[in-house]
Amino acid sequence: MGWMMIPCSGNSNCKAKTKKKRKNKIELQDKPLDQIKPTSGFSKTSSILSVKEDPKDGGSDHIAAQTFVFRELAAATRNFRSECLLGEGGFGRVYKGRLESTNQVVAIKQLDRDGLQGNREFLVEVLMLSLLHHPNLVNLIGYCADGDQRLLVYEYMPLGSLDDHLHDVLPGKRRLDWNTRMKIATGAAKGLEYLHDKASPPVIYRDLKCSNILLGEGYHPKLSDFGLAKLGPVGDNTHVSTRVMGTYGYCAPEYAMTGQLTLKSDVYSFGVVLLEIITGRTAIDNTRGAGEQNLVAWARPLFNDRKKLSQMADPTLQGQYPQRGLYQALAVAAMCVQEQPNMRPVIADVVTALTYLASQKYDHETEPVQSSRLAPCTPPRTKRDSERKAQLR
Ligand SMILES: Nc1ncnc2c1ncn2[C@@H]1O[C@H](COP(=O)(O)OP(=O)(O)OP(=O)(O)O)[C@@H](O)[C@H]1O
Ligand SMILES: [Mg+2]
Repeated sequence: MGWMMIPCSGNSNCKAKTKKKRKNKIELQDKPLDQIKPTSGFSKTSSILSVKEDPKDGGSDHIAAQTFVFRELAAATRNFRSECLLGEGGFGRVYKGRLESTNQVVAIKQLDRDGLQGNREFLVEVLMLSLLHHPNLVNLIGYCADGDQRLLVYEYMPLGSLDDHLHDVLPGKRRLDWNTRMKIATGAAKGLEYLHDKASPPVIYRDLKCSNILLGEGYHPKLSDFGLAKLGPVGDNTHVSTRVMGTYGYCAPEYAMTGQLTLKSDVYSFGVVLLEIITGRTAIDNTRGAGEQNLVAWARPLFNDRKKLSQMADPTLQGQYPQRGLYQALAVAAMCVQEQPNMRPVIADVVTALTYLASQKYDHETEPVQSSRLAPCTPPRTKRDSERKAQLR
């Protein structure tokens, strides 16, 4: 195993962003906070999980996650000032900060202390991200387990999450074009391929969704939030049995029904994300009419009708996409969200298909604008993520 070089970040201007608190992680607490020490689990996990390093991915240049004391992180975020707040999820709040020791700009996630949620997720996140390193996985710089404080320190991703660009677009902000969407989809698939094919045993991510795909300069995507990740089956086993956790709308049907988790559960979630990228719709949208609230249920009958495929393109693309590319991307998504897990492709094949699609650059100046721009616009969404992301048990 090697360690990743910690990159230097850009400027330190903290920007306030108002996002509703989302309590969407279910409790898995089995120990009080002060009995959980991340370091105590390292040797056990690292002896179970190994990773085939690829020199292309930075090879042995990784450095170990650091431990921080609470005081350093409070200073980095100017005492967790609201202007430094980047967002909030089911785990806690995320702040932008600058480490005094290195001047590095970072994102700091502060685990909620009011509830008992998230302790196992914290531990799994530290353990997984200390062992897994890839250009399409977010870099964990360190963590703090000081008293009852639990914080995670990540590389700062300047463009926020895919959710922010696809669904929560601020007025006046540039919409993602087709080429960028394909680039993001390909990078996210490569991150998943690393987890499935380079880690041994494979790692099942379990929480693939747009808010967990973070974007760096040039819209370079990285998967984040490994708190729900699970080591996959070993030997002849085809699945691991576990409590059903994940986000409603992204969770594979067989996993939701039986708790049997396989690599194909992640492929299903990836298919939902790809559908969101293509259509601009959210996985679950309660503001839509019956039959359109669940993205996969809406898309399935349309996949079979070639005449209707153009209607599936995000209206905000205004017809600026390659028709063939749209059909092919929809075909990949359709395969990923098949009911039967064994009919879904392995992620390596998805990467191959998407790498090809991303290489076929669309130029809106020379190529035709598709008539889907005439399709009726998506009605404005009045409810946010919080309502659609009920967690499953
Ligand atoms: N490393 C980072 N760099 C920049 N922004 C980040 C970083 N990590 C998280 N964020 C921002 O903070 C927001 C909240 O992230 P968080 O992971 O806590 O919640 P979530 O992904 O929205 O929901 P969930 O808790 O279900 O994962 C993200 O949507 C993103 O905008
Ligand atoms: Mg997240």
